[in-house]
Amino acid sequence: MISIALSKGRILDETLPLLKAADVVATTNPDTSRKLIFATSRAGVRMIIVRATDVPTYVQYGAADLGVAGGDVLGEFGSEGLYQPLDLGIARCRLVVAARKGFDYERAVRQGARLRVATKYLQTAREHFAAKGVHVDLIKLYGSMELAPLTGLADVIVDLVSTGNTLKANQLVAVEEIAQISARLIINQAAYKLKRAAIQPLLDALTKAVAK
Ligand code: ATP
Ligand code: PRP
Repeated sequence: MISIALSKGRILDETLPLLKAADVVATTNPDTSRKLIFATSRAGVRMIIVRATDVPTYVQYGAADLGVAGGDVLGEFGSEGLYQPLDLGIARCRLVVAARKGFDYERAVRQGARLRVATKYLQTAREHFAAKGVHVDLIKLYGSMELAPLTGLADVIVDLVSTGNTLKANQLVAVEEIAQISARLIINQAAYKLKRAAIQPLLDALTKAVAK
C-alpha cells in the first residue's frame, strides 16, 4: 500500500487534477468528506489528509510514503530524510517581508535598530535576517500575520503573498522578497528504495502530468 499525504485547501485542490492524470482518483470526494483516509481508483494507493505543516512529518516517519508540501513548509519545518524529486508548480506564491505603507524598511535595516518581526516562519526569518546582519526580535504567530504591524505588535511580517490582495486590504506593502514558493512532491527515502516498483510508475505519471 502506498499512502500520499495531502492537506485540504489549495494543495488538495491543485494536486487532485495532477493525480487524476496519473490515474489516481479518490473513491469519495476528500473535499466534502470528514474522513481522513481515502481509497483511490489505483489499486494499492490511498490518500491521507493532514495539516499542511504536518505533511513532511508524516512522510519523514514513513506514515505516508509520498506527500505534497509547499517550499515554505519544507524550508521551515525541515526536509530531512525526504527525497524531493518533483516541483509540481502548484500553490505558487512568494515569501516576503511586508510592512505598513510608509514604514522606512531600508532605513530601519541601515540604522541597525532591532527589528520586530512577526511570523509563522521563525526559522526561515531568523536565517534571512542573520544573513543580512539585521538584529531581530521574532514573534511567533499562527495566522493573520497582517494584523501585527497594524496593531503595533511588530514592525514587519514575514508571510506569503500571491495576488497581493491581503496586503493591499490591510495597507501593507512587500518590502523584500525572500523566496519564490511552489509545492513539491516529497517521498520517504526508505520507501523510495523499498517500494520502488510501486512508486516509480506514479512518479513518472506525475512528472508527465506536470510537464503538460
Ligand atoms: P495549516 O493548515 O497547517 O495552518 P495553511 O493554512 O498555511 O496550513 P494553506 O493555506 O492551504 O495551509 O497553504 C498550503 C500551502 O499553500 C502553503 O504552505 C504555501 O506553500 C501555499 N500557499 C499559501 N498561501 C498561498 C496563497 N495565497 N497562494 C498560493 N499558495 C499559497
Ligand atoms: C495566505 C497568506 C496570506 C494570503 C496571501 O493566507 O498567509 O495571508 O494567503 O494571499 P494573497 O496575496 O493572494 O492575498 P491563506 O489564504 O492561506 O489563509 P491562512 O493561511 O491564514 O488560513
